[in-house]
Amino acid sequence: MVVRNCREVKVRELRFLGVWEGPSDFVELTLENPGWEGYRPGQFAMLRPKHWGLELSWGRPFSISRADEESVTFFFQVVGRGTERLTRLLPGDEVIVWGPLGNGFSAPEETPTLLLAGGMGIAPFRGYIERHPTPEFLRLVFAHRAGIDSYPYQMMKDKVRAEAIHEKTPDDLPTIIERIEAEVAGAHGGLVLACGPLPFLKTIQQAAKLHQVRAELSLERSMACGVGACLGCVCKDGQDKHVQVCARGPVFKADDVHL
Ligand SMILES: Cc1cc2nc3c(=O)[nH]c(=O)nc-3n(C[C@H](O)[C@H](O)[C@H](O)COP(=O)(O)OP(=O)(O)OC[C@H]3O[C@@H](n4cnc5c(N)ncnc54)[C@H](O)[C@@H]3O)c2cc1C
Ligand code: FES
Repeated sequence: MVVRNCREVKVRELRFLGVWEGPSDFVELTLENPGWEGYRPGQFAMLRPKHWGLELSWGRPFSISRADEESVTFFFQVVGRGTERLTRLLPGDEVIVWGPLGNGFSAPEETPTLLLAGGMGIAPFRGYIERHPTPEFLRLVFAHRAGIDSYPYQMMKDKVRAEAIHEKTPDDLPTIIERIEAEVAGAHGGLVLACGPLPFLKTIQQAAKLHQVRAELSLERSMACGVGACLGCVCKDGQDKHVQVCARGPVFKADDVHL
């Protein structure tokens, strides 16, 4: 098996964006550019700091949030051991990165495109907006729970039409689901791209089917190898065949995947 573009790169910056009401943090990690400026937004990378011991034998997958000639940036939330240990990285530490991996989102020119992001699902859309050939055709709707400053939202709002919907309490959820369904219905004739938690993606998939809207969904399955070898990330496609999310996805046409 050939692992494409596996490199050791150095940490340039690690920045905490905001703090959830509990113990979780929102973090932006910037690495020296491993030569990925030609990546396709929606692609991801596996990260494994060089000093991790055997107790964390696998890297962790993250969407490439943006990349240019100088650096590549990831945006993540601390949810467990790996992400917590990533917050202890210091400038100059070495990280092994595999990538860019997976397929990425479509980016048709002059096509009204609705970006639906749920929580950490906002990460890949930062680079998507920056690289799109006709950003005036894009609109972002961002559903979030933590404070808006915890996410790289404002810098995206400066570039495209954008609206944030805040789920302050669980009572807000039905209204948010209705809003997302209405947004998908209103995107008929254009394209919907979505990234976020599984229930969020299911709502979008169902609405896209009902209203016959073209949609692509980015799946965040747990992964180990990230390159199609371990079968740790399988799901079923539209023909009921098992496929590896890391190799076939992580972006799937909404009518070609079982969630
Ligand atoms: C293609 C892809 C892109 C991703 N992009 C991002 C991103 O841009 N930002 C970000 O914050 N996260 C992203 N994730 C999720 C991220 O990989 C996990 O949060 C991370 O691996 C958790 O590692 P951990 O060691 O801290 O947690 P663990 O100790 O491994 O697990 C802690 C908790 O998180 C859950 N968990 C682990 N992996 C995932 C996962 N893939 N999805 C949902 N829950 C998970 C576990 O079930 C457990 O409850 C992405 C995942 C994939 C597959
Ligand atoms: S993570 Fe190993 S096959 Fe996908």
